[in-house]
Amino acid sequence: MTSFSTLMGLGFHVPDQILTNEDFERTIDTTDEWITSRTGIKTRHIAPPGTGASTLALHAARKALADANISPAQLTHILVPTFTPDYYVPGTACMLQHKLGAPSIPAMDIFAACSGFLYGLEQARAIIALHPKARVLVAASEVISSRTDFTDRSTCVLFGDGAGAAVVGGTTKQDASGRILDILLEADGSLGHLLTVKGGGSASPPVCGQHIGPEFFIQMEGREVFKHAIRSMANICTAILSRNNLGTNDIDLVIPHQANIRIIQALGKRLDVSLDRIFVNVDRYGNTSAASLPIALAEAKEQDRISSGDTVLLTSFGGGFTWAAALVQF
Ligand code: ACO
Repeated sequence: MTSFSTLMGLGFHVPDQILTNEDFERTIDTTDEWITSRTGIKTRHIAPPGTGASTLALHAARKALADANISPAQLTHILVPTFTPDYYVPGTACMLQHKLGAPSIPAMDIFAACSGFLYGLEQARAIIALHPKARVLVAASEVISSRTDFTDRSTCVLFGDGAGAAVVGGTTKQDASGRILDILLEADGSLGHLLTVKGGGSASPPVCGQHIGPEFFIQMEGREVFKHAIRSMANICTAILSRNNLGTNDIDLVIPHQANIRIIQALGKRLDVSLDRIFVNVDRYGNTSAASLPIALAEAKEQDRISSGDTVLLTSFGGGFTWAAALVQF
């Protein structure tokens, strides 16, 4: 009997404080017109300084657990995709386990930048293949404001904070809603230098009393990242559709990584999918990296953009580079 991993419950959380393009007009040399026309972003949510990723993850996780109708005690594994962990040690997933009051189950972080959620879902599927009764929490969470140089106009307008979570479980029901049909992951480390946060890592160790320079914050070759993001997401979407004998006409909704509206539009063109079949919330949240896809997925469900029987194509691209695609049937 074929068994599937399914998304049993979804939830998301963004902090209350909103930073608008007009707010940036007052602090850096930019305009609402430039940010809107180049990125499609109007607002992003920012956590109070000192907020850990585990705090945002906790809110999203509780919503996903409520949606799945299970308690933290019923979880068997916790995975936290993030590139902005609370600390190096302890891991953010362990902190989340404690905050949730979950039992002493395995908990670990996943480091795949913006593709972290789909990398996490693939890990959840692998766990469920080994332990069919597993209930895996995948809680992607980012406090990107902690690694943003708010004096660098080419990056600071792009990102926002937030968390999105899914509870993943196994089923043999052929028509269970949220069935993960397939996931495809790729990476290319030769392009890693195009998008970095190097400062404080073992190859760029911090020195006590050292000045915290720009290398401690997101640095990016925007145009190069832009080109690779479109090409890689288009190619991996085509590949996952092809190996499942599907065409883009079989897809009811595409949920792409929310980094830039121009990347999303170009992806739609390459896949020949019109914008009304593509979910967009980058205008309100900016790029929330690993949290981008689960926030978008949970919001799409909340807004009834996904109906019973719909097939959804998810795709992401991020630092590393890493990129990924998934097919989910509701
Ligand atoms: N306001 C005003 N002007 C700006 C701003 C700003 N906020 N930022 C940059 N500029 C200027 C630049 O200095 C440059 O000026 P110059 O020509 O005098 O040097 C000019 O605008 C054009 O800059 P470009 O980099 O060519 O602008 P572009 O159209 O490429 O847009 C952008 C820049 C938005 C960063 C784009 O390249 C992009 O979105 N890239 C992808 C970024 C991304 O999505 N990264 C994350 C993906 S992976 C992940 O999610 C971690």
